[in-house]
Parts: sequence; C-alpha cells; structure tokens
Amino acid sequence: MTAASPAPGAEVKLPPAYRLVTLDSVESTNDEAKRLAEAGAEDGTLVWAREQTKGRGRMGRDFISPRGNLYMSLVLRPECDIAAAAQLSFVAALAVGEGIGSVAPAMLEITYKWPNDVLLNGRKVSGILLESKPAPDGGIDWLVLGLGINIATYPQDTEFPATGLHFEGTPKTVTEVEVLQAVSRHFLAWVNRWLDDGFAPVRQAWLSHAHGKGETIQVRLPKETLSGTFADMDGNGVLLLDVPGAGQRRIAAGDVFFTA
Ligand code: BTN
Repeated sequence: MTAASPAPGAEVKLPPAYRLVTLDSVESTNDEAKRLAEAGAEDGTLVWAREQTKGRGRMGRDFISPRGNLYMSLVLRPECDIAAAAQLSFVAALAVGEGIGSVAPAMLEITYKWPNDVLLNGRKVSGILLESKPAPDGGIDWLVLGLGINIATYPQDTEFPATGLHFEGTPKTVTEVEVLQAVSRHFLAWVNRWLDDGFAPVRQAWLSHAHGKGETIQVRLPKETLSGTFADMDGNGVLLLDVPGAGQRRIAAGDVFFTA
C-alpha cells in the first residue's frame, strides 16, 4: 500500500468552510476521505492529491490518475436521507461545470452527461463518484464526493471519448490549484442553494445544459441497451427515456452514449 505523503508547499486559497488535506500521492482520495470520515473528520474536509495510484470510477472501474490533473474528495455530513444526498452529485456537476467555465476560454461548450459526467466540447473532462455511509436513523453518517478533472492529460483508450482542459484551449498556466479553488468556490455556492431551496434549481440548471436532451440516446443497462429520446430528468435524478413502442422508461443507473 502506498503511504499518503503531504504535497510540497502548494499555496491554495479556499473559503473557510473547507479544511484542506493536501497529499502528494495516495491510492484514492475517496478512500482517504472515507478513512478520515470514519475517524470523525468534519463536514467540509477536502482531500486533494497530486496523483492517485488506485483511483476509482463508477461501477468499480479504474480511474487512471497521473500528475497534472485534479483529484479531490470532499467529506460532507448533510442532515438528509440517502435519496436527497444522491442529489449532491448533480450539485457537484454544476460546480465542476461552472468552475471550469471560470478558468476556460469563453467559447467552450460545457455540458452535463447523465448521471455524473461533465463534458467539454462533447468529450468527458470530469467524472464524479459519490459514496456514503447510512446512519441507523435513516439519515446518513457521512458522504464522500470524489471529483476527477482532466487538465494536463486524459485517457486515450476510453469507450466514451475524453479530453483535458489544456487540449481545449485553456492556457497551460491554468493548473490543478486554480481549478481546485474555482470548483470549491462554485460548490459552496451551489450546496448552499440546494440547502436553502432544494433540488429544483439544481435540476433546472443541470437540465438547461444536459447533453442530448430531447435527442435519441443509448442507455446501457446491466442486461440490455435501450435506445430512445432523452425526455427529462425527474425530481429524484431519474432519467426518463421515451422508448419507441415501449413507453417511458425510468432509469436510475446506467451508461449513456450519444448518436454521432
Ligand atoms: C467516473 O467517471 O466514473 C467517476 C470518476 C471519479 C474519480 C474521482 S478522482 C478523486 C476521487 N478518488 C477516486 O478514487 N475517485 C474519485
């Protein structure tokens, strides 16, 4: 097992709501954040690493994590049930989209791919992994929100095409530190909006930049792949797919692909 070691002196400016844990190399910032959460880490603890040696994605996939990109995991302790807490992945997607938008050139197309990806000019630039521990009372004990954002490198061999900020016109002077600061600021703004007003404004903002909305998409499920029109996302984050001849399907988890 690789020991987590502190990163050499990066100057990071974050709002006071965060407590930053900076690491040079770690297996997975999500695993480190979960370990800290189990040990009692406060809401707002943010684990950031320069590289991950065993980064993880959704559905047990590897998330290759070389230096030059952003890998961060946030410990949250919201007072809500598991279903509401799952909405935080959409809150995080908006924070990533707007954070990237604030450091990237104006003409970039930033869109959201259901459920948890952020696309730059139609290619995946960021993935989000939400993990949580239920509390005995039906609420949650802790939630860890992990974000990976490609900046200086991106994987070449993925089924869905990827990209990185530096390959889409963002100056090479924009580093992980700047992206970390921008995304953290936007996350704070959006999480406060969510706490005050619920999921409705989050859903609306996400849907207004949803990739493929109203178009034919393919959704890969464990036992079948569906093709249909991406009609909507409901108030629980469920994808509504109009499948010709089969009515509307409600999809809680799956992999989305777009017709070229
Ligand atoms: C996905 O695209 O399937 C989600 C990728 C999530 C990757 C991030 S990087 C920081 C955090 N640590 C991990 O091991 N995974 C998440």
